[in-house]
Amino acid sequence: MSMQISINKTATPRQKPADPGKLGFGQIFTDHMFMMDYIEGKGWHNARIVPYGPLTLEPSTMVLHYGQAVFEGLKAYKTGDGRVLLFRPEKNMERINVSNERMCIPPIDVEFGVEAIKALVKVDRDWIPDAEGTSLYIRPFIFATDPYLGVRPSHTYSFIIILSPSGPYYPGGIDPVKIYVESKYVRAVKGGTGFAKTPGNYAASLKAQAEAKELGYIQVLWLDGVERKYIEEVGSMNVFFKINGEVITPSLEGSILPGITRDSVIHLLKSWGVKVTERRISIEELYRAHSEGKLEEAFGTGTAAVISPIGELNWSGNKIVINNNRIGDMSQKLYDTITGIQTGKLEDKFGWTVEVE
Ligand code: COI
Repeated sequence: MSMQISINKTATPRQKPADPGKLGFGQIFTDHMFMMDYIEGKGWHNARIVPYGPLTLEPSTMVLHYGQAVFEGLKAYKTGDGRVLLFRPEKNMERINVSNERMCIPPIDVEFGVEAIKALVKVDRDWIPDAEGTSLYIRPFIFATDPYLGVRPSHTYSFIIILSPSGPYYPGGIDPVKIYVESKYVRAVKGGTGFAKTPGNYAASLKAQAEAKELGYIQVLWLDGVERKYIEEVGSMNVFFKINGEVITPSLEGSILPGITRDSVIHLLKSWGVKVTERRISIEELYRAHSEGKLEEAFGTGTAAVISPIGELNWSGNKIVINNNRIGDMSQKLYDTITGIQTGKLEDKFGWTVEVE
């Protein structure tokens, strides 16, 4: 797809955050956003970068009623020598099309999607923070815009990209988190939308997260929706366990989001000669491994937090502490390596980074 992107810069640029140490996650937005529209019969058109600001939508806009939408998340980093790097952006644009397919949303051109991200990041490059642990979080999303209340796929859509200078996802950074094993609610089932990055999955997760929070836990460990037996994800992240030297992560069978950080972790571990197995792992097996002294590390992986070690689990009142509630060596090495590649400090042997020029 070759489409021109028109650029209309703001006449009133806003103040950039003064203290990069206090950014938090997803709270501040840059001066501009990318937008394009879809109309059935015409396709995607009117690609433009415009000042960031509110949208005008009819109350009947379909996404507000039936949630037909998808989103992505990736990051841009400023390197020590002032270059700007994206991390595997084509993977996000490939995945948005997988989500699109599931949600009956028309696909976008992967290469054009990456070009749109680059063009927007270039316009707002001065917003990319460069303090340790910070980055520019990029949020592409697509939603149904027909003003209509019948339940059917929309004929029109908006694709928007916004940018948010961000610090760590969790206030404690990569400190281990307390996790509640969720036995009542489920996130997704095979045949549903678990593998798609669609807002409803996140809406469906809020109740469990809220109840876990009441009990003093930051997130939940999701079990499968059929037997409440097999481990699926942790919060909005994929999950890994190091058991007796081997790393195990739940296999992708339709209910789990195919994480790009997950894929990067698997590649890195294999390149280090670590045995990595993608398979079903039950919560019983995990607790047994712990009681036998074999559960060495547990961690979540995601774009926002990168690596988030699990320090404690509570499964129906049965609490276990993992690695003395400390960051494991493997978790730390993965975090350092991935963020090192992302920020240009380490050699990018896999060709994962893409420069914004
Ligand atoms: C992640 O990056 O791990 C996410 O799932 C993004 C989250 C903010 C929804």
